[in-house]
Amino acid sequence: MSTFRRFRLICTVASTAQIHMASRSKKVRDKVVLAYSGGLDTSVAIRWLQQKYDLEVIAVSINVGQPGDLQEAVDRAVEIGAVQAYAIDATDDFVKDYIGPSLKANALYMGTYPLATAIARPLIAKIMVDIAKKEGAKYIAHGCTAKGNDQVRFDVSIAALDPELKIIAPMREWVMTREDEIEYARQNDVPIKVKKECPYSTDENIWGRSCECGILEDAMAEPPKDAYEWTVDPEDAPDSPEYVDVHFRKGVPVGLDKKKRMPLTDIVKKLNQLGGEHGCGRVDHIEDRLVGIKSREIYECPAAVILINAHRDLEKMVLTKDLFSYKRGVEQRFSELAYDGLWFSPLAEALMAFVDKTQEFVEGTVRVKLYKGSATVVGRSSPHSLYDTGLATYADGDHFDHRSAEGFIYVWGLPLRTVAKAQKK
Ligand code: ARG
Repeated sequence: MSTFRRFRLICTVASTAQIHMASRSKKVRDKVVLAYSGGLDTSVAIRWLQQKYDLEVIAVSINVGQPGDLQEAVDRAVEIGAVQAYAIDATDDFVKDYIGPSLKANALYMGTYPLATAIARPLIAKIMVDIAKKEGAKYIAHGCTAKGNDQVRFDVSIAALDPELKIIAPMREWVMTREDEIEYARQNDVPIKVKKECPYSTDENIWGRSCECGILEDAMAEPPKDAYEWTVDPEDAPDSPEYVDVHFRKGVPVGLDKKKRMPLTDIVKKLNQLGGEHGCGRVDHIEDRLVGIKSREIYECPAAVILINAHRDLEKMVLTKDLFSYKRGVEQRFSELAYDGLWFSPLAEALMAFVDKTQEFVEGTVRVKLYKGSATVVGRSSPHSLYDTGLATYADGDHFDHRSAEGFIYVWGLPLRTVAKAQKK
């Protein structure tokens, strides 16, 4: 079954009159599937694709947990001249097929960024490819610019799924400032809602919000309060902590506190809200973009930070020392692949299979304390715990064989003893 049929789908088809208007020339035109956000860039792109490439535009708006009205977006697309517009709610698929695997891999790019934007791109690409196939479109278009990672993620994911499809990235081609775009829209009857210009470039989905540009480009400047939307300033967070118990099964969160079974989407939403209230999940770092540029990035990702901390903590309790340590390397490589647009690569798929195998016994409960910006793990338990109080204790009940320590240390240190005798002056 093609992916998009599984999504909740609202499909707006242009009226006959609109199609007529949009296809004044008699000849059959090729189709392009455009990833449509409803904003200025992609609204202008609808008309531009018609004019520059003489294409029929099919607009696709995809929800992965960001705010905004999808129906309004597709209605506008049709009003502008798209022959068809899809509104697709893919949040649950995003959570299950992209956030789940990333969390199992404790995926953090450069050890810091939970990859919210990065892992949504392959899903969006997949939906676009499915719609292109269904509609017989030869082209896919997106609104990414030439300096970011997202263009690479879209283009490479689309190529991996259907190498025959051609990609058009209008914003890589046209040379228009925001003012030029507004003027273009005015001259070409593109109805747009010109909002007050946001001082930042932002992207949001259920796994996190990213914020860059503007004053943030000064790497030394502390982000102004208005850079944050999901989280309160830790200074203004409640003076008393809040505890939350996260229940895991096979490496995936399955419940919170007294609720032992909850959909993962609800868990993520709840932790974004709770964590946000306590100022948790703010990230401010310098990031290595795939295109060779270093950039200063601000993220808000309370649920991601809480869940990755909790998940990794539980792994420390149930994975062997070797497996935990080896997996850290796999996690780093996987995070880089996800960041670099290689989600659909054979290596990423193989690493995901490895990670899945490691999750068999990652079951239990982790208690997290949310307090003024921190999400600290303060307790954990598991039916598969390798933590044995009888071995660990310094008090009564100790069953560790103390005499065997001496022999072990003799053998363990033997190579160093040998080196010291033979080679050290
Ligand atoms: N730097 C992040 C990434 O590459 C976020 C990019 C978000 N895009 C944006 N237009 N703000 O994944």
